[in-house]
Amino acid sequence: MSPDVQLNLNVRGLEPSATVAINERCDKLLRQGRKIFKLGLGQSPFPVPEPVVEALRRHAAEKDYLPTKGLPALRRAVADHQRRVYGIDCAADDVLIGPGSKELMFLLQLVYYGDLIVPTPAWVSYAPQARIVGRHVHFLPTRAAESWRLTARKLDKLCRADPGRPRILVLNYPSNPTAATYTRDELEALAEVARQYRVILLSDEIYAKLTHGGEHASIVPLYPQGTIFSSGLSKWCGAGGWRLGVFVFPRGLRWLLDAMAAVASETYTSTCAPIQYAAVRAFEGGPEIDRYVELSRMIVRALGRRLARDLAAAGAAILPPQGGFYLFPDFSPLKERLAARGIRTSDALCARLLDDTGVAILPGRDFGRPSRELTARLAYVNFDGARALAAAAELPPGAELGDDFLTACCGEPLEAVARLCEWLG
Ligand SMILES: Cc1ncc(COP(=O)(O)O)c(C=O)c1O
Repeated sequence: MSPDVQLNLNVRGLEPSATVAINERCDKLLRQGRKIFKLGLGQSPFPVPEPVVEALRRHAAEKDYLPTKGLPALRRAVADHQRRVYGIDCAADDVLIGPGSKELMFLLQLVYYGDLIVPTPAWVSYAPQARIVGRHVHFLPTRAAESWRLTARKLDKLCRADPGRPRILVLNYPSNPTAATYTRDELEALAEVARQYRVILLSDEIYAKLTHGGEHASIVPLYPQGTIFSSGLSKWCGAGGWRLGVFVFPRGLRWLLDAMAAVASETYTSTCAPIQYAAVRAFEGGPEIDRYVELSRMIVRALGRRLARDLAAAGAAILPPQGGFYLFPDFSPLKERLAARGIRTSDALCARLLDDTGVAILPGRDFGRPSRELTARLAYVNFDGARALAAAAELPPGAELGDDFLTACCGEPLEAVARLCEWLG
């Protein structure tokens, strides 16, 4: 007889992450010979920039364990990058490198003792991580009418009810899933409330460089004492599978950094050595990498706008995307039509859509929204990013990427959304 099932209560019933699960479901349907449009997993469509790949080649033989907090040259390169790009005053000692920002977030929740505040809709993993380590999650629902953004008033109301309570608030902008970002004024207002109640901010700015307008404002300079900056190579550098994340801490939170590093030293020891050497090149930047980011941004902006227009024309409520490569339409205006087909929840909507059309998107419920709200997330990344980058690079400077470009280079997401719109009827 095999041993009894004796699972930690915190992980009992925990399902694989929604984004990973949809990807596996799509692969299964693909193996059955179905045509599938993978708009589920939010992975960058673009290849890693060549100078960074070249740096990885050069360092493939690096084999030693590195310091737990990260390769000193990389910690310096990240600090220099933060100063240069975002005007953030920091030093190499404030930087913690990890195997993906997701793992760093997990460590943060493990070592910090307090509540996690998550404005919804939110990226799928914040709350399950809190649950795994037994932290209390407080969801703060936002509204489409407020562009799915947390207001300072709402945060103030929550904190005022129990002012001394230790809390971490996650802010993610540009947002996965809503593609919304904050204005500087909104960030200032939030920073002021956070400062007043000494809330720690986890500022997840992993899509910062993919802000469609090019200008990203970080909250770090507005609340430098209490904000942890989070990013990595996964999104802007197309290197999700390389697993490299960075946190940058205020000096006053060094105790958190040190505690996370202590746990890291007892678990993964250090982040993959060749990847860290290559990441130095990525954070050093330069004209070739800047151009790569600029072209990536132009492509996701043009495609996002076009798809949002198509969805709006089909009757969905949707905000124009401001950053990243996601869309978060709300199909509630079509509620009656969908109910007539037996579709009353976002799960039912996505399951039926996948069965009927092969288009895979994720239900709003996975992002912390009520099950009966007919929202969903599309990750419009199912196109050949290398080809799109090469074609965009051929266009004259300043040229907008029009429908011809999108039809030639982004046919799959266009077709997926066309199928979705037709299915809506
Ligand atoms: C908003 C957000 N934060 C964090 C992550 C985690 O990224 P990584 O662990 O690859 O750094 C993701 C990845 O999908 C994300 O969308």
